[in-house]
Amino acid sequence: MPHYEFLLALFVTNCLSVALPVSEIPSFLKICHQNDPFLNDCLMESVVSLRPYLKNGIPGLGIPACEPFRLEEIEIDQTSGPIHIHARYNNVSIYGGTNFVPKSIRFDLEENIIRLNLYIPRLEMIANYIMDGRILMLPITGNGVAHGNFTDIDVIMALQLTRYCDERTGLIHQRVEDIYVEFDIGYATVYLDNLFDGDETLSAAMNLFLNDNWNMVIEEIRPKLEETIATLIIDFTNVIFSMFPENVLLPS
Ligand SMILES: *[C@@H]1O[C@H](CO)[C@@H](O)[C@H](O)[C@H]1NC(C)=O
Ligand SMILES: *[C@@H]1O[C@H](CO)[C@@H](O)[C@H](O)[C@H]1NC(C)=O
Repeated sequence: MPHYEFLLALFVTNCLSVALPVSEIPSFLKICHQNDPFLNDCLMESVVSLRPYLKNGIPGLGIPACEPFRLEEIEIDQTSGPIHIHARYNNVSIYGGTNFVPKSIRFDLEENIIRLNLYIPRLEMIANYIMDGRILMLPITGNGVAHGNFTDIDVIMALQLTRYCDERTGLIHQRVEDIYVEFDIGYATVYLDNLFDGDETLSAAMNLFLNDNWNMVIEEIRPKLEETIATLIIDFTNVIFSMFPENVLLPS
């Protein structure tokens, strides 16, 4: 048994690393080897080659199309600082997410952390919204369709992985145990229709105000957005990780 697998076996008791036949590796997965001196370049290509599959989904694996990306609901309860708002967005569609460009990937094998930087040129969001509260001193209330365009988005992520034993198969898998997500939006425009029961003067003034102050608005809702994105990435990554043992995805 190679030293590395011996350590793994110690790490995850009662679970062995057994190689799967190569035929079971689906074509959309570009396999990278842990001891490849160009591991990070390989992972970069692997992420790029996954992109069209994210766009259209992988029906055989139950992975839905991510273009547009749909969210059931985002709920924002902001009650400190300059913004006091209860907002609920549902039937959320986000377009453009799968046009992401990976900028760098570093897999720290010792710490079992993947650090990933992405660039997303543009996202467009359409959702139904209900909102009630105050921004600065201005009351805001509305119920309708929200539109948002976001450009020049930089995303920084770190995924802390951990190994576990799949008790059904006795094979070692990785899963995301913790995640750090931070994004920076270059520019945003938003439009909320049917604010103030359709009062056009108030509505136009508020939309103008929101666009002039988009930075502040995003700053306030950032924690919730980062949490939402983090959950999605954890779920997606763990679906793939749970399907294939570590030494299929990342053999040594
Ligand atoms: C949900 O969103 C889609 C895409 O924006 C839209 O076509 C559809 O009418 C919306 N459904 C409801 C119930 O609002
Ligand atoms: C977002 O971009 C689309 C397409 O360019 C445009 O039709 C829409 O009006 C924009 N929405 C906002 C809120 O800027």
